[in-house]
Amino acid sequence: VTLEPHPGHEKILLAAGRAPSAHNAQPWRLVPLPNGASYELHYVFEDKLDADPDDRDAFLAMGAFYETLLLASHLHNNTCEFVPALAELATGFKLGVVSIAERASSEPADPLASAIESRITNRHPYQKVLLPKGLQTALIELGCTLLEPTLVAPLVSKASVMAWKDRRFIDDLKKWTRFHDGAPDGLTPACLNLNSTDRSALRFALARGRLPAALAWVYARRDVRLTKASSAVAVLSVDDRVPLTMFECGRRLLRCWVTITGAQHSYHPISIVIDQATAPELTRMAGVSHAVAIFRVGFTPEPAVVSNRRPLGNLLMAPQQNEA
Ligand SMILES: Cc1cc2nc3c(=O)[nH]c(=O)nc-3n(C[C@H](O)[C@H](O)[C@H](O)COP(=O)(O)O)c2cc1C
Repeated sequence: VTLEPHPGHEKILLAAGRAPSAHNAQPWRLVPLPNGASYELHYVFEDKLDADPDDRDAFLAMGAFYETLLLASHLHNNTCEFVPALAELATGFKLGVVSIAERASSEPADPLASAIESRITNRHPYQKVLLPKGLQTALIELGCTLLEPTLVAPLVSKASVMAWKDRRFIDDLKKWTRFHDGAPDGLTPACLNLNSTDRSALRFALARGRLPAALAWVYARRDVRLTKASSAVAVLSVDDRVPLTMFECGRRLLRCWVTITGAQHSYHPISIVIDQATAPELTRMAGVSHAVAIFRVGFTPEPAVVSNRRPLGNLLMAPQQNEA
């Protein structure tokens, strides 16, 4: 059976597939339902990361995917609804049902819809200038805690050293780094903004599997430098870490991202601080209950390289056998 999107949804689903995910793993799938308007939304273990044992990054990405789908539907004169119905399957998790419908002329488009196509990860150094007041306020309203980059830099250093000594972190890099430009997923050195020295260093680390402490410290300088070259570091937190809470946080994360790129600024996650044993210290520093996402924000005139996505057909999935 060849799976097709419902009529009229092609553009929306293509735009939704541009959503962000850690390592560009794209762990989302849609199962078309017979009503011609709805899809089950699934997270598949096939694209699970080794360094994400509790599926934190996965559920954040699922939320970011749904919010991208919602904004894309508004951009294309539709609207979208999500009804949660969480179920764990052998293949992954079903999160619920997404339905796309025409948007009534009386319902205004989401103000972020027009900026959805500008969302991108920019890994260049940023200018160390204050964020515009309006952008700061918008991020705080979306639940961000904003921290001084110089305050966070020592923690980034600690996390980065831990990461380069961590086999799981390097294994994921090995699995998802693509040294040829045509790959439909993962990240190329160009996307990662690595120069030729950085590329050789990365190849060396991947070949070694993990780095000794002194070398890990040298590698960590890059993350520290980038953190310091930012206007602010933002932290998102949750009250509990159940899947649907993480999903909702992923929706907020995406709205922060589009708010930033829509304001001609840049966004770059620094997830190592949360993946490593530095997470509790970050949570304390930010004064939140559970820090689950961290990113640096700032301005750079340097454009980022656009990453690839799998074709639309790979986003669609047949109904799962083991479903209740
Ligand atoms: C939950 C999550 C965590 C991420 N963590 C990192 C990170 O630690 N470092 C990084 O450079 N990019 C990180 N990213 C960005 C992804 O690599 C990026 O979204 C993906 O490669 C697609 O590229 P794009 O955002 O430019 O479209 C993260 C994205 C998500 C959604």
